[in-house]
Amino acid sequence: MTDSSGENGTIKTRSSGLSRRSFMRYSTVGAGVAAVGGAIAVRANMPPLSPRQQGLPSIPDWTAADIPSLQGRSALVTGGNGYPEGDRSGLGYHDALQLARAGADVTIASRKQERGEEAVRRIKVAVPSALIRFEPLDLSDLLSVASFADRMRASRKNLDILVNNAGVMGRKNREMSANGFERVFATNALGHFALTARLLPLLSQGNSPRVVWVSSSRAFMGTINPADLPLGRDYDYGAAYDNSKLAILMLAFEMQRRSAAEGWGISAMASHPGIARTNLVPDGPGFDSLEGRNHRYLPFLFQPPAQGALPTLYAATSPQAVAGGYYGPNGFLGLGGLPGWAGIPEKADDQQAGTRLWATLEQLGNVTFGRMS
Ligand SMILES: NC(=O)c1ccc[n+]([C@@H]2O[C@H](COP(=O)([O-])OP(=O)(O)OC[C@H]3O[C@@H](n4cnc5c(N)ncnc54)[C@H](OP(=O)(O)O)[C@@H]3O)[C@@H](O)[C@H]2O)c1
Repeated sequence: MTDSSGENGTIKTRSSGLSRRSFMRYSTVGAGVAAVGGAIAVRANMPPLSPRQQGLPSIPDWTAADIPSLQGRSALVTGGNGYPEGDRSGLGYHDALQLARAGADVTIASRKQERGEEAVRRIKVAVPSALIRFEPLDLSDLLSVASFADRMRASRKNLDILVNNAGVMGRKNREMSANGFERVFATNALGHFALTARLLPLLSQGNSPRVVWVSSSRAFMGTINPADLPLGRDYDYGAAYDNSKLAILMLAFEMQRRSAAEGWGISAMASHPGIARTNLVPDGPGFDSLEGRNHRYLPFLFQPPAQGALPTLYAATSPQAVAGGYYGPNGFLGLGGLPGWAGIPEKADDQQAGTRLWATLEQLGNVTFGRMS
């Protein structure tokens, strides 16, 4: 199986025999073998590190206890209201908890206000000194993104850490956003892109500002087709997710290139959590999907969400994290473990495709970051 750039810059996956996605999803030896085998199949095409990461020092064991003091710093985590319930919790909740514990003034932002307020209450119980608040935000709705950004700009002078964490995995049937875009693309990619653009004035006033884009190891299976991005004509819930996560990675790297070229003074990095027990699958394709069966029958594959949050926290806070870096768990197949370098899909490092994607999203999101000189 090889990947190649097709006409109009579309990156296509050519399959010889069984495609990676088919292998992942339809392996006949049962969900367990599909999950482990699929991960291996994906990894078989993963260089352990991309050339631009080779030679960089390995990352020593790092946990939330290593987060430096964030007193006086401000942070925004999209998502963050997935407080622990049973054995599941959202990754953003743990990001927010640890950032607040380190002294940052944290805002969590997502759709469900009641859950947001409960998450704030719980974080304040865990960290009585926590500076934490919830703000409503629907990333899939560009009007909501604009009004959220207006409120942020009206209430503060700067933003030091933006964690683009929120995300959805699609349901079996295609759903559309308020703006007429496929919902997974609208939430994960376009919404975060528009949000970041609108918060750029606050970020540029930040103290060593960083933006962390949360991707997935499934970005390796993603494909970017600018002609079909917003509508998801050939909808498949797995592909919609994979494509959006590849887009996130490309946006992180393109943002870093632009920031460096134009002197924004903002570092952009990317992270992924491996796999962790969260609400992503239950709220998405559900427990009768392949991913849902893995939740039920292969719990040992999933790491605790608090650990899944660590690569993002490392990227957001470690003085050793580098702009343009991509961090994920360092354990078996990158599924779990402490933060390490994550393998970068070649197509995420395709600069021309990144520039085209950026221009497409500026147009679709009706936002601009300014121009590359
Ligand atoms: N869990 C994994 O194994 C895994 C693996 C790879 C990558 N990831 C990535 O990790 C990130 C966090 O996901 P998770 O696993 O923690 O899932 P989760 O438990 O389902 O949390 C998702 C969060 O996103 C928020 N959200 C969903 N739609 C939104 C919208 N339209 N606007 C604003 N916020 C929205 C949700 O809050 P509301 O419902 O209130 O909006 C929730 O706080 C995602 O980007 C996901 O793709 C997860």
